Amino acid sequence: AAGGAAPAGLVAMGEPAANATERLTIVYGSQTGNSRRVAEQLEARAEAAGLPVRLLRAGAYPLRELAQERLLSVVISSQGDGDPPDDAIGFVEFIAGKRAPKLPQLKFAVLGLGDSSYPKYCAVSQALDARLAELGGQRLAELGEADVDFEAAAASWSAAAVAAARETLAVPATAPRQGAALHAVRTVATHSREQPFAAAVLENQRIVSRDSERDVRHVELSLEGSGLRYEAGDAVGVWPRNPPVLVEQWLAALRLDGAAEVEHGGKRLPLARWLGEQREITRLTRPLVAAQAAATRHAGLQRLLEPEQRAEFAALLESHQPIDLLREFPAAWDATELVATLRPLTPRLYSIASSPKAVGPEEVHLTVAVVEYAAHGSVHYGAASSFLANAGDEATVPVFIEPNERFRLPADGSRDVIMIGPGTGIAPFRAFVQEREAMAASGRNWLFFGNRYFARDFLYQVEWQDALRRGNLSRLDLAFSRDGVARSESPHKDARGVARDSHKVYVQQRLRENGRELYAWLREGAHLYVCGDSAHMARDVHEALLEIVATHGDLSADDARAWLADLLQQGRYARDVY
Ligand code: 2AM
Repeated sequence: AAGGAAPAGLVAMGEPAANATERLTIVYGSQTGNSRRVAEQLEARAEAAGLPVRLLRAGAYPLRELAQERLLSVVISSQGDGDPPDDAIGFVEFIAGKRAPKLPQLKFAVLGLGDSSYPKYCAVSQALDARLAELGGQRLAELGEADVDFEAAAASWSAAAVAAARETLAVPATAPRQGAALHAVRTVATHSREQPFAAAVLENQRIVSRDSERDVRHVELSLEGSGLRYEAGDAVGVWPRNPPVLVEQWLAALRLDGAAEVEHGGKRLPLARWLGEQREITRLTRPLVAAQAAATRHAGLQRLLEPEQRAEFAALLESHQPIDLLREFPAAWDATELVATLRPLTPRLYSIASSPKAVGPEEVHLTVAVVEYAAHGSVHYGAASSFLANAGDEATVPVFIEPNERFRLPADGSRDVIMIGPGTGIAPFRAFVQEREAMAASGRNWLFFGNRYFARDFLYQVEWQDALRRGNLSRLDLAFSRDGVARSESPHKDARGVARDSHKVYVQQRLRENGRELYAWLREGAHLYVCGDSAHMARDVHEALLEIVATHGDLSADDARAWLADLLQQGRYARDVY
């Protein structure tokens, strides 16, 4: 029955706590950990203000308590395409759906995290905020939105939410609770996002052939002396520095002096250092386009900012880097204004490609696709990948560990594991396979890998063949998408403008071909993991899985959807996608 679609939180028979009305409930939906961090800071702030609080991840929220909830704040991120984090799908769908109760008793506050370089910026939090109001809830604080440099916006929203919550619960201003101080202690780690560790580069090796269309690096970094620890499944955060040639191009295009000192936010640095180390200059953002449009009074550019031009604007963000705009629409920028308009540089996350049990805890490996291509008359760079690609023996890389608790191998080594990781999505599975061997796990390991050409882009080929030989991989299924495509053929484009060629083979085709067996593994309790591109690959793989479950489990489309949703909720289907 379609009743299987009930989110797991409904099935759990948790009784509403007696004092549900007396406290602030904080729920977070986090994919990469930022929303979790913000929610923890909100919790600490609320506790310090004397508020009774409970903090829950969205997947653990008992949905039947929503109807009694009096004070709720939600911190939730929107993924690239406007989707909720995997852990929050059940929560978001329940509230959006027909089963959601009326909420006249509720006071709520929503903070959205997102990335304004995507068109569906903060779409999840906007919809949630609107829906909670529609169900009868009253806003405790205005909907907050925080971009990738979320700290300041999150802090001021949290302060407003806590102040309003305190008023509602009539907590006197001076009633700090014990334990508030403990939180401060807990967050002081050796190295962190804010205090990265300067990791020495131990190895930086191209792992695709010379004639590959893309440069992919295997990078090994030293964590020696950092006190940092990681587990297979975690990510490394890298604070990049922008390519020096790009900084030069900016200064030339803007006719500004790189040596001129600029003061902003209490910091005084030469403009070249602001651009090289402090500001995002490889990604276009709406505020930058708006400022450039205003400065040039260019009608075409101004029109792009109108709501009706959403699709065109999204296309501009995808295809252009700021330097293209600066060159195409010359404008006189003031250096201080430029620094104020540009977004702060933010760290990039790389899924770790090593297991500490195999390589030792003081070493960490990354698989890096180097983003560097010509477009619109300039070379487009990815900030972190070109920084890493150019990091030589003497270099250090500012890093921290970003734990990913949702992307973990089963503790029970006898469970089977299915891994789907095309392109650099292979990285965490190198860690997993190493880890499974180190654990002497008896369960089977099945890996699906895809890339453009067998002869050029078979990442870690020798290691996989070795793992197969030693029985550490039970199955390896490969999809080299362009081997079967004649060079002269012009690819057919689908509605999304993506090249679709009937000769192309992707990992999801291999999944379908092996559908019966794959379903059997899942039925026997296998854990399934997907890593890589979220916009197309993870979506198409999910479609393929739905089809496989429907066909081989003899389920309706709705039941197949519920079956996979349940797998996600149980943490037996986990995605690390970007
Ligand atoms: P393509 O570049 O030939 O289209 C890693 O990037 C691999 O993933 C490449 O072989 C790439 O193929 C493939 N790929 C691209 N889009 C995909 C999709 N929607 N699903 C699965 N694989 C995809």
